[in-house]
Amino acid sequence: MAEKGFGTRAIHEGNIRDTQFGALTMPIYQTSTFVFDDCAQGAARFAGKEDGFIYTRLGNPTIKMVQDKVAALEGGEACQAAASGMGAISSCIWSIAGAGKKIVADKTLYGCTFALLSAGVTQYGVEVEFIDCSNMDEVKAALTDNTCCVYLETPANPNMKITDIAKIAEIAHGYNKDIKVVCDNTFASPYCQQPLSLGADVVVHSATKYLNGHGDVIAGFVVGDAEFIQRVAMFGVKDMTGSVMGPFEAFLILRGLKTMEVRMMRHCENGMKIAQYLEKQPKVTKVNYPGLESFPGHEVAAKQMTRGFGGMISFEVATKAEGEKLCNSLKLCTLAVSLGDAETLIEHPASMTHSTYSPEELAEAGIPEGMIRLSCGLENADDIIADLDQAFAQI
Ligand SMILES: Cc1ncc(COP(=O)(O)O)c(C=O)c1O
Repeated sequence: MAEKGFGTRAIHEGNIRDTQFGALTMPIYQTSTFVFDDCAQGAARFAGKEDGFIYTRLGNPTIKMVQDKVAALEGGEACQAAASGMGAISSCIWSIAGAGKKIVADKTLYGCTFALLSAGVTQYGVEVEFIDCSNMDEVKAALTDNTCCVYLETPANPNMKITDIAKIAEIAHGYNKDIKVVCDNTFASPYCQQPLSLGADVVVHSATKYLNGHGDVIAGFVVGDAEFIQRVAMFGVKDMTGSVMGPFEAFLILRGLKTMEVRMMRHCENGMKIAQYLEKQPKVTKVNYPGLESFPGHEVAAKQMTRGFGGMISFEVATKAEGEKLCNSLKLCTLAVSLGDAETLIEHPASMTHSTYSPEELAEAGIPEGMIRLSCGLENADDIIADLDQAFAQI
C-alpha cells in the first residue's frame, strides 16, 4: 500500500493503544517513577534485558508516543525528546563533540545556538569554525580530520538563507562518512522539509514552534538513527544535560500534531501572500522568503521544501528606528519572539533573538539593524496585510 499522507501519519503514526481503559487520546503519565514487580524485574530493566519504564528521565509512555510520532514524520529511526529546543541541541552536540574535535557551523543561527557554539562548547576544548554553508568552497575548506559535525539551519533564523542539504551531506560524508550533518528543521517543520531524506544524519527541533503550534509549550527533539539517538538519550540527556521533556508537554505536542498538516497549509499560504505584499510595499528594501522567485535561495528551496515554503519571513526597512516604529504601530500582529503559533508574531532580531551576536558578528551573519522577522500566523491573510499596511503608513 502507498505511504499514507502527512496528515494521516501525524494523527495515527506511533500511537499507543490504551488497552486498560480504551482512552482515545494518550493519557498524561504524570509520574516520576515506575513500580517494579520485584528486584529481578528492576535489575532486568536497568540491564536493558526487559522492556518497560523505569524513571521518567529515562522514558515515559506519553513522551515515548510523541517521540515515535516525530521520528515517523521526520523519516528517522528514532527520536529523543528534550525540555526545550536548546536542550535538544545541547544534548545532541554533547553526544557528538568533545575536547579536540571540531564543529563546522553556519554563521547564521538562532542566537542561543550561536552562543552555545561560539562561547559555550569552546570552553571545553571543542573547536568551532563558523562559515557560510551555502558556499560549498567554504564547506570543503573547513573540513579537517578532527571534524565531527557540520551544523546548519535551513531556512536560517532570521535571514531565511537556504543551504543545499543534499550537497552538504555529499561533501561532508565524502570527506569522512562519520561526520554528523545536523540540520535544525524548526523553521521548515517536517511538513515542508525532511532533511534526513536529503542525506542529513540528525534533525533537531525547537518543538516550541510549529510541532506544537499553539504557543503554550517549551520543548525540543533530536531525530536520527537508532544508535545515535540511544547515545543522545543515555549520554546527552540522561548524563550531560538532564534536559527532560515533561509528560504534560508531550501531551500538548501530541494534541498539536493532530492538526499539523492543516496548520502548515495555512502558514504556507499566508507566508506566500504576505511575502508578495511586502515585495510591493515601497518602505521595504528587501524581502527574504524562500517562495519568492526573487529570493536567492529559491531554486534550492523549491527542490528541498517539497510541500511549501513555510510561514517565516524576514524583511528590511531603511533603519532600526523605522523597524521599531512599524512594530510599535501594529494592532493585530503581536510584538513577541518565538514563532510557529496561531498568532502572527513580529520581532527585531538584532536587539532580541540575535542579541547574543556582537554588532560585527551580526554584520558577518547577514542580520542588519533594519531587519524585522515575521512569523505568519493562522489569521486571515487579508487582516494581517491590512494591519501591516496601516503600520507602514506610520513610518
Ligand atoms: C531555529 C531555532 N532553533 C532552536 C531554538 C531554541 O528553541 P527553544 O526556545 O525551544 O529552546 C529556536 C528558538 O527560537 C529557534 O528559532
